[in-house]
Amino acid sequence: MNDKKFYVSTPIYYVNDKPHIGHAYTTILADVLARYHRRLDIPTFFLTGTDEHGQKVQKAADEHRMTPQEQCDTTVVRFKELWKKLDISNDHFIRTTDPEHKKVVQAILQNLFDRDLIYKAEYEGHYCVPCERFFTAKDLVEGNLCPECRRPTNNIVESNYFFRMSNYQEWLIDYINTHPDFIQPAFRANETLGFLKQPLSDLCISRPKSRLAWGIELPFDNDYVCYVWFDALINYISGVGYMTDEEKFKKWWPVSYHLIGKDILTTHTVYWPTMLKAMGVEMPQSIFAHGWWLTGREKMSKSLGNVVNPMEMCDRYGVDAFRYFLMAEMPLGQDASFTEEAFVTRYNSDLANDLGNLLSRVVKMTLRQTNGVIPQPEAYGEDEKDLMAEIDRAVAELPQMLDEMKLNRGLEVVMQAIRAGNRYMEKTAPWTLAKKGETGRLNTVLYCSAELLRKAATLLHPVMPHKMTELLEALGMTGEAAANPDIAQLNDDKNVLSGLKMNDILALFLRIQAEEPAAKPLPQEKPAKPAKQENKPQAAKTEMPEGLITIDEFFRTQLKTAKVMEAERVEGADKLLKLQIDVGGEMRQLVAGVAQYYAPEQILGKTIVIVANLKPAKIRGIESQGMLLAAKNADGLKIVTIDGNMPSGISIG
Ligand code: MSP
Repeated sequence: MNDKKFYVSTPIYYVNDKPHIGHAYTTILADVLARYHRRLDIPTFFLTGTDEHGQKVQKAADEHRMTPQEQCDTTVVRFKELWKKLDISNDHFIRTTDPEHKKVVQAILQNLFDRDLIYKAEYEGHYCVPCERFFTAKDLVEGNLCPECRRPTNNIVESNYFFRMSNYQEWLIDYINTHPDFIQPAFRANETLGFLKQPLSDLCISRPKSRLAWGIELPFDNDYVCYVWFDALINYISGVGYMTDEEKFKKWWPVSYHLIGKDILTTHTVYWPTMLKAMGVEMPQSIFAHGWWLTGREKMSKSLGNVVNPMEMCDRYGVDAFRYFLMAEMPLGQDASFTEEAFVTRYNSDLANDLGNLLSRVVKMTLRQTNGVIPQPEAYGEDEKDLMAEIDRAVAELPQMLDEMKLNRGLEVVMQAIRAGNRYMEKTAPWTLAKKGETGRLNTVLYCSAELLRKAATLLHPVMPHKMTELLEALGMTGEAAANPDIAQLNDDKNVLSGLKMNDILALFLRIQAEEPAAKPLPQEKPAKPAKQENKPQAAKTEMPEGLITIDEFFRTQLKTAKVMEAERVEGADKLLKLQIDVGGEMRQLVAGVAQYYAPEQILGKTIVIVANLKPAKIRGIESQGMLLAAKNADGLKIVTIDGNMPSGISIG
C-alpha cells in the first residue's frame, strides 16, 4: 500500500430498504481500517454514502407511495443513524442525488460522448414488464418466458447509448495480469479473468425516460437518464474532488481500497476500470471483495426471515462487542456464518473471560496493593521478558496483517497476548507475592500486566473505540492518550504508566449467560414460521410426588468448584464479603453474606462450591456472578468446601 496516505471506500448502498448486516459489515471494516491508519499517523480519507437512483429506488418509492426523492430522503436517515450508532468515522457521506455529484457525472458523460466513446445504437432485447428488465434470448426459459418471474417477455427494440467498453478488453486483461494487488483476494482476480474470456460487449449506459425517469439526465439527450451503475461508480472520484477540487483529488486518488462484497465484483473490476481508463484516470490500488455473512449455512434473505438487524444486535450486546465479533469472526475474503450462539461464545471467551477478566484482576490487585498507583517496575525476569515479547509481537504483526488484509489474524495475535497475561498472573501469583512481602517483584508484576493491557487496548482501539477508552481510563490514562491512543508510539519503550492512579471498573464486558439467546430469539425482520406440530403420540404423564424434582431438573443447576483468590469486606455492609474466585481459569466476582462468620483471611485460598449458572445480580451495587453454598443454623454458618485437593472449575453432581 501507498504509505503516504490511505483512502478507503465502501460501496454506496441502495436506499430502497433499511440497512442490514452486510452493509454494517463493510462499513465497520472500512472504519476499522481507517482508524488503524489514522492511529499509525497516516493521512486517511474514508468515504461512504448512498446510491439513490435507478429502478430499485423508483420501485420502493412507488410501493411506499412516495416520490423517489422522498424515498431517498427518508431512507438515507436510517443509514446515517446506524453509522452514528456504530461509531463510523467517515470523512464524507456522498449521496448520488447531491448536485455536485450529478454535475461530475454529466461532465464525464459529455466528455466521453464528445470523444465518441459513448454512441447511440439500437438495442434489441426481451423485456419483462413486471420485472422491468431486459434479457437476451439465451436467458429466456420455455421459449420466451422471463427467467425471474416466468411471465411472457416482449421483444423490444430500443435506442440507447453505449459506452465502448469492448475497446479495453485486452488492456484490462493485461492490467490484471501485471498488477497482482489490483483485485484481491487473488482468486477474485481469476474470477474476473474468467469473465473476460468471453468477448466483452459495450455497456448500455442509458435508460429511456419513458421506461425509467429516476436518474441523472444525459447532458446530450434529455429523453434519457444515466444507467444507475455508471452514475454510482463515479462517486468514488466525485467524492474526493474529481473535476471540482483538483488538489483534493490529487491528494487522495488513487483509492487504496475499494471494499466491496463478492456479488458486485464485475461492476467494480470490469466496468469501473474501463470507465477510468476511458477518462484517463489512474487505476485504484486495490479492489477488495469480501465474502458474505450467512445465517448458519443459509443465505440471509427477507423471505427466510433470517436477516440480522445490526441495530438490534447492538442494543442487546453493545456496539463494540458487535464490531469486534464481525472483525474477528470473518476471515477476509471468505464467507462466514452469523449465529447468536457463535456470537455469545466468542464474546464470553475473548471479551468477558480473557480481556475483561485480566483487566479486573489487574485493577483489583493494584487498588489493593498500592492503593491503585501503578508502581515502578524492577528489572525484568524471564517471565516479564516473555510477556512483553508476546505483546510486542502483536504490536509488530498487527500492522503487517492489516497490510495483508488479515485483520482477524491480527486480532487473534492480540488475544494471544492477553491470554498470556492471564497465565502470567496465575504463574506469578501477585496475591502470594503480597502475602510474602515481596514488594519489588509484586511491583514489577503489577506494572507489566498493566503495560500489557495498555498496549493491547491501543491495538484493539480501532475495533472497539469506546470500550478500549474505558479500559485505558481504568488504567489511569486521560485525555487524548485514552481517547485516541497512538499505535505508532507503541514501539518506543517509554514507561507512561508508573505513577498513574487506576480507577475501579465493575466489568468491562459482562458475561452473557448461556440461556439468554435461546430465551430471546435472534432478531429477525419477520417472525420465523412456527415449526410444524408433529403428530407424535403424547407420552403418558408420570405423576411426580410433590416436592421432588427430576434428575434433569437438578442438573439445570450447575454446581462447580471455585478457588477463593481474593477476599475483602464490603464497606458499609457488615454481612458481606467480596470475593474474587477462580472457576477453572475464569475469574469471577462473588458477593457472599458470610462476613459475620468468616474473616477475609479465613476464606482466602479455600476451594468452595458455587452455583455457576446463576443470573448475575447486584448486591449493594456490586456485581455478584454466582452464589456460594453454605450451611447455616442458629449456631453459625459453615461454607461448603471440598474434601481434599480438587482443581477449580470442576462440575459437581
Ligand atoms: N448500490 C450498489 C453498490 C454500488 S457501489 C458503486 C449495491 N448496493 S447494496 O445496498 O445492494 O449492497 C451493498 C453491499 O452489501 C454489497 O457490497 C453487498 O455485497 C453487501 N451485502 C449484501 N448482503 C450481504 C451479506 N449477507 N453479507 C455481506 N455483505 C453483503 O450493491
